[in-house]
Amino acid sequence: MPKQKIAMIGLGPMGINLALNIKDHGFDIIGYNRGEEKRVKARKEGLKVADSLEEAAGFFGSEKRIFWVMVDAEAVDLVLKQTAEYLREGDVIIEGGNSYFKDTERRVKWAEEKGLTYIGAGVSGGEAGARYGPSIMPGGTKEAYNSVAPILEAIAAKAPQDNKPCVSYNGHGGAGHFVKIAHNGIEYGVMAMIGEVAWLLKESLGLDFKEVGKILEKWNKKNDVLSSYLIGITADGLQQKDSKSRGFLADYVADITRMKGTGMWTANTANELLVPIPTIYSAITSRLQSTEKALRTEINKKIGIKTKKIKIGNKNGFSALAHNALYVANLSSYAQGLDLIKAGSKKWNYGINLSNVAKDWRAGCIIRAPALLHAISEAYKDKKKQPENLILHGPFMKILGKGIEDLAAVTSAARESGVPVPVLDAAYNYLKQL
Ligand code: 6PG
Repeated sequence: MPKQKIAMIGLGPMGINLALNIKDHGFDIIGYNRGEEKRVKARKEGLKVADSLEEAAGFFGSEKRIFWVMVDAEAVDLVLKQTAEYLREGDVIIEGGNSYFKDTERRVKWAEEKGLTYIGAGVSGGEAGARYGPSIMPGGTKEAYNSVAPILEAIAAKAPQDNKPCVSYNGHGGAGHFVKIAHNGIEYGVMAMIGEVAWLLKESLGLDFKEVGKILEKWNKKNDVLSSYLIGITADGLQQKDSKSRGFLADYVADITRMKGTGMWTANTANELLVPIPTIYSAITSRLQSTEKALRTEINKKIGIKTKKIKIGNKNGFSALAHNALYVANLSSYAQGLDLIKAGSKKWNYGINLSNVAKDWRAGCIIRAPALLHAISEAYKDKKKQPENLILHGPFMKILGKGIEDLAAVTSAARESGVPVPVLDAAYNYLKQL
């Protein structure tokens, strides 16, 4: 059977890489971008490119049209409207940007009124993921999903444990984008805590970035519970030299973390659902505070509190504590994100399968941590025995007692040395309060 035809609308970094990935898997794909520059670039990359939406639509002949829209969140409504003019009843739209799931719900209704089929799909993994295998979180009708499953399954990342594609059907309407906002909330928490631990190791032990990077490198070894994409890129990034030979790049990077705001959606949704997600909240607040650079610099000049090296035993001993502390702290972020999915799934009747969600996060996405996510997916495998909270799952319970003690030791050390660790503190308090 000939492979399906598909059009990629929007050839920005994500769109072009997804299109090339789809092409590599033997599908007949055409790209379109409103701006000419990106069309030229895509042609150079070997893609078939249309100069108008009309031409892209014509590419399908009498076959069912599948238009994958991959544009910035602000442009989605306009592009959908323009695209719909060239679609016929029964055609499919996949919208793969970072969209707020309630916008997706609205768009699903809009598409249904036109007789179109709509799939809102969260796509994670950045440009490299898009090119070589993202994790995909689709929502829509089951029939719609089935009709494009061959494409999604072909291009998705494959999990190292069983080579299964990191994509599955999540539920109707905005279910896919809802899962993606939980993913991003977890990402906010984990990223912030890795940063805090790295900074604390540096300041309290008096290490340089290379030494901290080396510690993280060890934590990224295959069977380590912390082994993950985010630990790996932090280990590499910290050891990177500045291009002007001034030392480590990290010493010259502004300590500011901006955001497109996907974590805000997570927080707002958690408020609506009354789900406690303090680790994720704290990561958002920490990012916001980081942007107040001028204020922080002024306060530092006026008050000038310094961080200090403290006597916390040897490097190996403290980094072992930090390792365990980060592990249980990370669990808190996952527990909160999964709780949010559970509550949303109940409220909006999505029927989301938490075990599948965790399975699909084993590879491709930003929070990929194959061993941990495999264990999480096992926790939710048996529908009758699902833990009320992730930390109640046997293997996690076992390490929790000692892990919380280590997290307490690490956050106390941070206080003593004057390093703020608001997200680790929130994680500790969340676990302790539970
Ligand atoms: C991913 C990422 C990706 C990106 C977002 C978040 O899963 O590939 O989550 O979507 O990080 O753009 O942006 P903010 O962190 O700026 O909200």
